[in-house]
Amino acid sequence: MIKPAPISIETQRLTVSLAERTYPILIGQGLLANAALLTPYLPQPRVMLVTNETLWPLFGQTLATTLTNASVNVTPIILPDGEVYKDGTTLNKIYDALLEQSSDRKTTLLALGGGVIGDITGFAAATYQRGVPFIQIPTTLLAQVDSSVGGKTAINHQRGKNMIGAFYQPQLVLADTDALKTLPDREYRSGLAEVIKYGLILDRPFFSWLETNMDRLLQRDAAALTHAVHRSCELKAAVVAADERETAKEGGRALLNLGHTFGHAIETALGYGTWLHGEAVACGMVLAAQFSQQLGDLSTADVEQARQLIHDAGLPTALPIEHAKISADILLQHMGRDKKNEAGTIKLILLKSIGEAYVNASIEAEQIHAFLASRQ
Ligand SMILES: NC(=O)c1ccc[n+]([C@@H]2O[C@H](COP(=O)([O-])OP(=O)(O)OC[C@H]3O[C@@H](n4cnc5c(N)ncnc54)[C@H](O)[C@@H]3O)[C@@H](O)[C@H]2O)c1
Ligand SMILES: [Zn+2]
Repeated sequence: MIKPAPISIETQRLTVSLAERTYPILIGQGLLANAALLTPYLPQPRVMLVTNETLWPLFGQTLATTLTNASVNVTPIILPDGEVYKDGTTLNKIYDALLEQSSDRKTTLLALGGGVIGDITGFAAATYQRGVPFIQIPTTLLAQVDSSVGGKTAINHQRGKNMIGAFYQPQLVLADTDALKTLPDREYRSGLAEVIKYGLILDRPFFSWLETNMDRLLQRDAAALTHAVHRSCELKAAVVAADERETAKEGGRALLNLGHTFGHAIETALGYGTWLHGEAVACGMVLAAQFSQQLGDLSTADVEQARQLIHDAGLPTALPIEHAKISADILLQHMGRDKKNEAGTIKLILLKSIGEAYVNASIEAEQIHAFLASRQ
């Protein structure tokens, strides 16, 4: 067997280039124990540490002590854990705490947690006193490779996910791969779906690296993780730098949605939380690959390779057929088309090959319906 090449385990640094909003991402082991990585980014030695009840005892307390020992004044804001709390009520609790503490425009908000904490803290930072500095310290794989990079912040509204939000960039992203050791297995694998996504849409060599190193990643090997997080962030940062606000006519940030149109339909149809986001996206990416093949764009070999890697990551590669909620009709409805209104087109991110994605905005709803029905 060919031994994988050794990978540097040193801290990796990369830059998200956005004119005056440019900021660094640091990736590596043990970063949370090193206050000196954070302090240069604080306008004043004062932070509000926003986290949740799960993460406070795991990492929050230690981080607070580390910063206090470095003469930083730390006030924790500990929120309940869960997507349901990414809402206006919780946001108000953050504002209340900031006001109670007379937090000013030089106080930095630290977001310690997964995408939920990152999104709500980022939105609080974007809006409190018209914008205060914030730093992302992502603790899930999804947050390290996706939500902490790119400046999208939001809360949910009863009528829709991420409906209230802002583009707002952090001063720094600090991704400590050690933090991922305590992540539940399903959450971890769900994050791997987004990592695989970058290989599929942009980078065949990275996809091949993932094929070779999936076992190491599943063991959460630090060197393999550092490489996977670094390359994923690098790819996302490049896409974001070219299309910060998702306005590009061709490709741009939209390509990051590979598997997401199918994925969101699956997530919604099953009921949020039945499948995790990454699980639904994993299945969505296989569907997008199969649909690309049906259109004659993608080779059978590439579809099989994509499916195999997603399978090897322990992620679902097919619709849960036993589930009555997943009919082609219902999925199509959740993709923005109902049965009565099958005329019209749907926009999908599809593949020409592994490593090359494109936007197809002119797919007939009927064609997708027939395709989905054939998967069941
Ligand atoms: N802003 C963006 O660009 C963007 C992109 C993708 C997703 N998102 C958002 O991200 C959210 C999902 O993020 P997520 O998948 O990180 O979920 P999450 O933040 O809910 O975290 C998942 C669970 O893992 C726990 N957890 C986090 N880190 C842990 C650790 N190191 N050890 C043990 N437990 C840990 C959390 O407390 C939570 O219970 C969604 O709200 C989604 O809308 C935003
Ligand atoms: Zn996603």
